[in-house]
Amino acid sequence: MSKNKNLDLSKVEQLYTDNIRKFGNKAESVGWGTQEKQDLRFLKLLSVVAQRESSFSVNELGCGYGELVKYCARNAFELGEYFGYDISEEMLNNAKVYLADFENINLFKSSNLSTMADYTIASGIFNVRFDNGMQDWEEHIKSTLKDMFEHSKKGIAFNLLTKYVDFEADNLYYADPSYYFDFCKSELSKKVNLLHDYPLYEWTITVFK
Ligand SMILES: C[S@@+](CC[C@H](N)C(=O)[O-])C[C@H]1O[C@@H](n2cnc3c(N)ncnc32)[C@H](O)[C@@H]1O
Repeated sequence: MSKNKNLDLSKVEQLYTDNIRKFGNKAESVGWGTQEKQDLRFLKLLSVVAQRESSFSVNELGCGYGELVKYCARNAFELGEYFGYDISEEMLNNAKVYLADFENINLFKSSNLSTMADYTIASGIFNVRFDNGMQDWEEHIKSTLKDMFEHSKKGIAFNLLTKYVDFEADNLYYADPSYYFDFCKSELSKKVNLLHDYPLYEWTITVFK
């Protein structure tokens, strides 16, 4: 995970803590607007799973209130063990209650992965940059991706806002998909997919071991 001393995630943590207090367990809390859009992101990210009907384990970095677990249940993904990480204590408190009926749920207040899983997934953790410098933020993303890959037996999936937009908000980070495709291909694995074919201002990359 990021060892960059200049990186400050405190505003990011505060944003999501405020959101979950305000909206509760809803897509609005995690900045996704609607559950339909949240689900579309999960659909793209979970294309990394080779066989949804065979049990698999997941690390989710930036798990929010844990909607990914419910998405898997609704869509016949055989999610075995789940390790959810978040920097917001409030999100994790909600996740604990929201996922109380599920087995094999493990939650961590951390941005450092400490568990091995078949797949590591990150949805939306690189979008809100706030005052972090561009270079620091890009180093943070790349070191996080390396760490995700090291903690995965089969593959990783992540998404980022696209730079193919006609308006950019100051506090957000818009990524060049070709830059991260090249990074994953040259630093992580030969098996990389870039998905930029769905109707959101973002893209998804899946990387296989
Ligand atoms: C956009 S929300 C998405 C939540 C969930 N993945 C979903 O799609 O419903 C991002 C979440 O990641 C958390 N987060 C942001 N950066 C993180 C990091 N570096 N490590 C762990 N959690 C992080 C935030 O607190 C927030 O709850």
